[in-house]
Amino acid sequence: MLNFQFYNPARIIFGRGEENNVGKYTAEYGKKVLLHYGEGSIKKTGLYEKVISSLKKYNIEIIELGGVRPNPVLSLVRKGIEICKTESIDFILAVGGGSVIDSAKSIAVGSKINGDIWEYFMDKSKVIKSSLPLGVILTIPATGSESSTSSVITNEENLFKRSIKSTEYIPKFSILNPEITFTLPEYQIACGCSDILSHLMERYFTQVEHVDFTDRLLEAAMKTIIINAPIAVNEKNNYDIMAEIMWVGTLAHNGLLDTGRIGDWASHYIEHELSALYDLTHGAGLAIITPAWMKYVYKENQDKFIQFAHRVFNIDFAYNEKERTIIEMIKYLENWYKTIGLPTKLSEVGITSSNFEKMAEKCLVGRGKAGNFKKLDMEDICNIYNLAL
Ligand code: NZQ
Ligand code: ZN
Repeated sequence: MLNFQFYNPARIIFGRGEENNVGKYTAEYGKKVLLHYGEGSIKKTGLYEKVISSLKKYNIEIIELGGVRPNPVLSLVRKGIEICKTESIDFILAVGGGSVIDSAKSIAVGSKINGDIWEYFMDKSKVIKSSLPLGVILTIPATGSESSTSSVITNEENLFKRSIKSTEYIPKFSILNPEITFTLPEYQIACGCSDILSHLMERYFTQVEHVDFTDRLLEAAMKTIIINAPIAVNEKNNYDIMAEIMWVGTLAHNGLLDTGRIGDWASHYIEHELSALYDLTHGAGLAIITPAWMKYVYKENQDKFIQFAHRVFNIDFAYNEKERTIIEMIKYLENWYKTIGLPTKLSEVGITSSNFEKMAEKCLVGRGKAGNFKKLDMEDICNIYNLAL
């Protein structure tokens, strides 16, 4: 186990009806709020009315900025920063999924600096020193952004999708009510579950040894998603099932399961190029890339893959049949994605090989190589895209 620090002050407020108390929680931090949301689902579902009424009850002044789209873009972040500065906003309330939360986080940082926020995405030597406080009402379990240190934004001028990382903007509070997710389309539930499972697998496939405790926590979390996701896409409005998924989604990405180990993250980097260029949903991209990544890298540490196959998918194995067992496990995983309605091949979403080199090259800008389980160069990444065709 490696040395580590674990710090995550996000206050998680979980359960039925908690969105109606958002005014009370917000009033602890601010008086003038930027209410940030997406392309309209919160108005259709009635959540918007509840939020406005609760904020008004506590005499909180509200400035609105809606219109965050999936794979959120830099231009809206810049607009939000401008509003926060000119309106002297003292708190940002993000009501939505990872896209809204990530946009809010970048606005929160940008409001505290004089230069261009994008520089922080491309130049990792630039350190984020402060942020406006923010709060969250989560509407889709997926990214874990409700308590993560990341904000992922696409610069639509050059289609670079990149992240910043900081504990400064970890939300002061995140309200998680599984009932709010009942209006999600099945496809978004599936994509969210795929993202959560990926956050767990990215951490699981480490070359660091003697991390048995976090291995076993990760296995429990992965099994919870694997069992509950197919039920969630078939049984709408099942509070108990969504509650399991929502809580795992937060813990999958709040840093706890990183402790003492180094995750891989190549599948995420390789996927981000797809969602940047083709506007693919992140979780669908991961369902396509992860099996291909596994096929490409498993020889780097077959025992880790065997442990995963055995403990997570309950696949028995013979010691002289390791490779066959791993290939079998990858088939199980692909079938699981199919069961929840996700694609597992680029051809299914109409993506051809035409931009593989361009995406692989962009993926490595500012990184050198991608991933830690096996450090991937441009040729490796192209090979993975080809395996995913
Ligand atoms: O925009 P609206 O109208 O709200 O609709 C959204 C959107 O179309 C809809 N939706 C959300 N909650 C709903 C709902 N529709 C009905 N009822 C509800 N309760 O769902 C669609 C997807 O929303 P989005 O926020 O884009 O989804 P998600 O949470 O999956 O976020 C994806 C973004 O987060 C990034 C991804 O790359 C992608 O850009 N990630 C952020 C991470 C982080 N900050 O830690 C880590 C992840 O690995 C990921 O990269
Ligand atoms: Zn993700």
